[in-house]
Amino acid sequence: MSVAVSASILACDLLNLEKAIKDIENAGIDMIHYDVMDGVFVPSITYGDVILSKISKITNLPLDVHLMTVNPLNQIDLFANAGADMITFHLESDSDVMDTIKAVKSHGIKVGISIKPDTKAEAVLPYIDYVDSVLVMTVEPGKGGQAFMESTLEKVSDLNDYIALCNLKCTIQVDGGINESTALKAYVAGARNMVAGTYLFKAPDMKKAADAIRF
Ligand code: DX5
Ligand code: ZN
Repeated sequence: MSVAVSASILACDLLNLEKAIKDIENAGIDMIHYDVMDGVFVPSITYGDVILSKISKITNLPLDVHLMTVNPLNQIDLFANAGADMITFHLESDSDVMDTIKAVKSHGIKVGISIKPDTKAEAVLPYIDYVDSVLVMTVEPGKGGQAFMESTLEKVSDLNDYIALCNLKCTIQVDGGINESTALKAYVAGARNMVAGTYLFKAPDMKKAADAIRF
């Protein structure tokens, strides 16, 4: 399976969001990663459905919404109606996991479950057959620009083994501290969707940087 690159706009110049989206398109990046923080699940508050609906009007790139929120189930309709093509929520949230998966799927869009660095791979296994992707956080969720946690690689590898063993279609995404060297490690462990913010937006040439993490 080839690698998809997802650009996290948390790291872009938010005062020039339209330009950032054009840059992502011109760099041939596969998806836009949209980090929603509610100020409770994580300390920061970022952006919500209103900005997402504006973005969806100016791009055809798939929009992957990463909900770092306490009660994602309450927000599925909001983000799906605002143009999300995939919604990823946290296993550690307060919402019922199967109900949330069903709510996302009822909109005919993709669904992902995310797990924090301290959450074990086993915790997600009961749901893995029902989701399109597992997002393994390779930093503590909450902010961009942090260092990749090598300790998460074993989890990626265990999940990859399980997916292969059961012949499932689920993709492993990694998010946090992704650059050329950490993406390679994640790729070897089995990740096929690289979410990157700082690395892409600080790169002198975004296309080259994106191509360099598509192994
Ligand atoms: C962190 C977010 C990430 C973040 C990644 O909570 O989920 O998507 O934007 O940023 P970098 O690539 O800078 O680590
Ligand atoms: Zn994210």
